[in-house]
Amino acid sequence: MLFGTMTTQDNQLTIGGRTARDLIADHGSPLYVYDLALIKHNLRAFKTHFSSKLFDTRIAYASKAFLTKAMVRLLQAEGTSLDLVSAGELHTAIAGGFDLSQALFHGNNKSPEELELCLSHGVGLIMVDNIDELDQLIERAAASGQVVHTLLRVNPGVEAHTHEYVITAKHSSKFGESIYDNERIAAIMNRYRDQSHVVLDGFHCHIGSQIFDITSYLKTIEVMSTFINKITAQFELSISTLNLGGGFGVFYTDGDTPMDIETTGRTLIRALEEKQITNELSIKTLIIEPGRSIVANAGTTLYTVGHTKRTYGGKHYLFVDGGMTDNIRPALYQAEYSADLANRMTDQKDTHYTVAGKLCESGDVLIRDIQLPAANPGDILAIYSTGAYTYSMASNYNRLLRPAVVFVEDGKSSVVVRRETYDDLLRNDV
Ligand SMILES: Cc1ncc(COP(=O)(O)O)c(C=O)c1O
Repeated sequence: MLFGTMTTQDNQLTIGGRTARDLIADHGSPLYVYDLALIKHNLRAFKTHFSSKLFDTRIAYASKAFLTKAMVRLLQAEGTSLDLVSAGELHTAIAGGFDLSQALFHGNNKSPEELELCLSHGVGLIMVDNIDELDQLIERAAASGQVVHTLLRVNPGVEAHTHEYVITAKHSSKFGESIYDNERIAAIMNRYRDQSHVVLDGFHCHIGSQIFDITSYLKTIEVMSTFINKITAQFELSISTLNLGGGFGVFYTDGDTPMDIETTGRTLIRALEEKQITNELSIKTLIIEPGRSIVANAGTTLYTVGHTKRTYGGKHYLFVDGGMTDNIRPALYQAEYSADLANRMTDQKDTHYTVAGKLCESGDVLIRDIQLPAANPGDILAIYSTGAYTYSMASNYNRLLRPAVVFVEDGKSSVVVRRETYDDLLRNDV
């Protein structure tokens, strides 16, 4: 499926007004290409449809999906908040000129350095994961005389039907504290009450990723409302903020049935507004943290076809000049993608292939089963919807160089991350 500004013209795939062929000619192969107009459209759709007259809303883009300085500048210009989880992401946000008072900081094992950076750079909201971290934060905030705003990350135990590796709210998840663990929750609430440097604004939860079923979110709103009311009554705390995390699913291949941003937004906002109206909940701010749903469909990876091979065992491989180093998701959690030969869009798709990369791993397969035109060396393979968790998870396995990243819009492409060089590869070798 073609998203955003993608079209087919004269048998060629175009993105943002440029053909895949020209993009490769100008910027090399493999290449991460982002349709800037689609990212902007998605950011604006979240802003429009996740809004309410009864409470404030904040869209905090989950930077783990894809972050570069150019992306930071775009988010700043669009007035989006930013969800960060490491000193590296924080550093990128600073380098991109982001107003960190609008940033959220996550992590189940934040280092002392990361906590210090949050305080010294005035990060707006810290998600506290556990009581040890809370103690460290209290100590630091007290020492520097600061008042720090936080949410406690909790695990609502809601099962979202998605891949096991991306479910984060199971009872054994490493993230946050279970809302059913009364003892630990009570200890944390008492700790918050006993001091004045670290303020509990509310709670954060994130039930998983690539979720299609809105009832999982509705269930989470139910469970979290009950939990917030219980805590408010039991500990006489005033809870102003609820963060529902991200996880909104996107289309990768036939069979994926995502809700559009408008339907998702309106449904969740309505559910929360009903709770506010019936006094079952009283929050001032709702936060969500979409990552994939903002960038996945806006990204396309372009590869150059090398050889094809029919194995004795009956597999017909199409080899490309990248692989699990630029997209680990198929190897990591059997992620599926769709693709086309970008220079032969309307040719008959009469050949069945397994698309594999060039890395020394049998698991280096990008697409297990796909129908394409019979491919020739030099053809361009476009794998769609690779905008999330690809560049951000890329590696130098086999000492491959990471591809360049370009943004395309209105017929212009601009390099936002240059292709790695062999000097880059050796930079830290001693
Ligand atoms: C805490 C948290 N928020 C937001 C996200 C973003 O999820 P997605 O990219 O699926 O929207 C994640 C992803 O795992 C997450 O762990």
